[in-house]
Amino acid sequence: MTSKKIAISMKGVCFSYAHSESVIENASISVQEGEFIGIIGPNGGGKTTLLKLLMGFLEPTKGEISIFGKNPKSYPNGIAYVPQNLRFDKLFPITVMELVLGGRLATLPWWGIFSKKDREKANEALEKVKLLKYAHKPFGELSGGQAQRALIARALASEPHILLLDEPTANVDAQAEAGIHELLLELRKSLTILMVTHDIRAVIRQVERVLCVQRQIDAVSPGELCEHFALGLYHFPLIQTPETHLKSSKGSR
Ligand SMILES: Nc1ncnc2c1ncn2[C@@H]1O[C@H](COP(=O)(O)OP(=O)(O)OP(=O)(O)O)[C@@H](O)[C@H]1O
Ligand SMILES: [Mg+2]
Repeated sequence: MTSKKIAISMKGVCFSYAHSESVIENASISVQEGEFIGIIGPNGGGKTTLLKLLMGFLEPTKGEISIFGKNPKSYPNGIAYVPQNLRFDKLFPITVMELVLGGRLATLPWWGIFSKKDREKANEALEKVKLLKYAHKPFGELSGGQAQRALIARALASEPHILLLDEPTANVDAQAEAGIHELLLELRKSLTILMVTHDIRAVIRQVERVLCVQRQIDAVSPGELCEHFALGLYHFPLIQTPETHLKSSKGSR
């Protein structure tokens, strides 16, 4: 029997932006390979900062982060990120295929020409998100939901082991949101996924754990969160409110 690996480990991680108060405080969590995790928290709670720390874009002021046992910076291709509110000039003349090929940039040789393999990987990614027939359309002509799926394809083209998504359904209608959730259910079969979401209720049955991020990071099971919803107590802080009797499963699963 093969035991699952630890995909993400954070030990005593603290972070603050220069000359500011702390954003993440003493966070210790571990995520197993193949887990599907929802991330919730109030505006400004530190969710996007957490993803940037995992990507190695930011460095902890204290503590340690490892991705499959390595420093996030030395694991650049294994982890892909779909950013929050990616501002994109709709008139910028780029096709969907060109956008998705952008996910292959890290593997591009110095002479800068995409190989046959790069195009194959971009095609595969577009097929997974059901946008292959739009490959040669201008990106600016896609609907909100299609554009979000194209951005997911761009992340998938880099062949990641871990996929981080920052509110992928924030600006799309209910139908597109359902399409993205369906896609993530398919992707979770082969990837470790962490998704920041404003609507945890929509995915509560699919995720294995929920990270509640509000300076501190607490891991709770969907069951614990449902109990919280049932009591009508969905507010922050989720964990520290004594009357909720919510047990934190901080540290590991
Ligand atoms: N580049 C930055 N420089 C200084 N402070 C920052 C920077 N980026 C974020 N912050 C601050 O860090 C805190 C956490 O921000 P972050 O973007 O991680 O929150 P969030 O949970 O993603 O919020 P939202 O739900 O609004 O997306 C906020 O107080 C924010 O103002
Ligand atoms: Mg954010």
